[in-house]
Amino acid sequence: MSSLDEHLLDIAARSPEAVRDWLDAVDAVEVAAAALGEIVTRAAALTAPDRDVPVQVELTAGTRTLPFVLVLGPDPKVTPGSVPEADLLVRQDLGELVRSLFGPDLSTATREVLPAEVPDPRVAGHADRAHLARAALQFTTACDEPLRDLAELAVRFGSDKWGEHWYTRHYDRHFAPFKDRRVTVLELGIGGYDDPAAGGASLRMWRHYFRRGVVHGLDHFPKPGLRAPRLHTHQGDQGDAAFLRDLPTGPLDIVIDDGSHLSQDVITSFHALFPRLRPGGLYVVEDLQTSYWPGWGGDRHDLGNPATSMGLFKSLTDGLNRREFSSETSTVDDTVTGIHFYHNMVFIEKGLNSERPAPAWVPRDENPFAAGLATPDE
Ligand SMILES: C[S@@+](CC[C@H](N)C(=O)[O-])C[C@H]1O[C@@H](n2cnc3c(N)ncnc32)[C@H](O)[C@@H]1O
Repeated sequence: MSSLDEHLLDIAARSPEAVRDWLDAVDAVEVAAAALGEIVTRAAALTAPDRDVPVQVELTAGTRTLPFVLVLGPDPKVTPGSVPEADLLVRQDLGELVRSLFGPDLSTATREVLPAEVPDPRVAGHADRAHLARAALQFTTACDEPLRDLAELAVRFGSDKWGEHWYTRHYDRHFAPFKDRRVTVLELGIGGYDDPAAGGASLRMWRHYFRRGVVHGLDHFPKPGLRAPRLHTHQGDQGDAAFLRDLPTGPLDIVIDDGSHLSQDVITSFHALFPRLRPGGLYVVEDLQTSYWPGWGGDRHDLGNPATSMGLFKSLTDGLNRREFSSETSTVDDTVTGIHFYHNMVFIEKGLNSERPAPAWVPRDENPFAAGLATPDE
C-alpha cells in the first residue's frame, strides 16, 4: 500500500478540476498536512532565518479554510491550528499547492505571502525585519525551486558522492531527464554500517533531487531512524538474489549499487535487479576500483575475468553488438541499449537492443572492399 504522499504523486498529475473533485471526496486536512510535511522537509535543506519564524498557513479547499502553523527557521515543523501572532500569513488553494508540489506543473496563482504589518521604525528593535524576508524566501523556494544541485545536496547531507568521489556530475548528466518524473529509485547501501542512527545521506539527496520520486534504500543493517515522506528503507543482503527479486518496491526506474562493492555481490545484484528495471531505466554501479582488488573478489591480472564486476560490465559492451557475431540469445544483452563508463563507475541503460545485424550477404570472413576488389559504391 502506498502512503498518501505517494498517492499524491499520481493525483497531482491530474487537471485542476479533477484534483478539486478528488479533494471534495477525501480528508482534506490529511492532504494539507502531507503537502506541508513535504514543504518542511524541503525547507530543512535550504538557507533559513537564524531564528524560528511562526507562519500562519491557511489552505482553502472548496468553502473550507484549513489553518496550520508552520515554524520556519533552521528546524522547520508544522502543526494544525492557529497562532495569535504570526510573522507571516500564507494563503493558497490546497489543490494548486498539491499540483505544484507533487505534480509536473508549477503554479502560484492563488498564493499570498503576507508579512505581519510593518511596525513603527522609530521604536527600538522594530527595524530588524530581515528574518521575515528570509522566512518568506525559505517558504517560496521550498515550494517552487527546491534545492536540486547534486553536489550541494551531497555536501548538505554528508554523502561522499561529491568531495571524496566526484560522481555527482555524472549522475546529473544521466539523471536530469528523470528529475521531474514520477520515478522509483533503489539504492543498495544506505551508509553508516552497523550504526542504526547513521547513514541515509544519499537517500536524502535523491529524495530532494527527484522531487516526484519514491526512494528505497537497502542495507545489511537496520536503519529505523530514517523516516521521511517518499523514502523507504529495507534490511537485507544484496548478495541474496531471491530476496532482491521480491523486494517490495514495484517496478524500478533507477538502481544504484553503492553497497558491499564485492564483485560477487555486485554481479548477483545486477542479475537480480536489472530485469526489474523499466525500459528506459538506468542501472548504476559505484566504486568499481574494487574490481581490481583481490580482497574484494577482484582481479588485477586477468582484466576480463567474468567473476569480477568490471569483467561483467565490459562483457556487456560486446553484448551490445552480439547479433553481429552470434545467433545465441541473451536476455541481458537483448535489454542493454547503452553503457557509459567513468572513473570507477558505470551507467547501464535498459531498453530493447533489437536492431538487425548487417545483412547476411555482407561477407564476414573476408573483406573484398579492403582487398581493393570492389568499392562500397559498386
Ligand atoms: C558506502 S556505504 C553507502 C553510502 C551511501 N550510499 C551514501 O552515499 O551515503 C555502504 C553501505 O553498504 C552496506 N552493505 C555492505 N554490505 C552489504 C550487503 N551485502 N547488503 C546490503 N548492504 C550492504 C553497509 O552496511 C554500508 O552501510
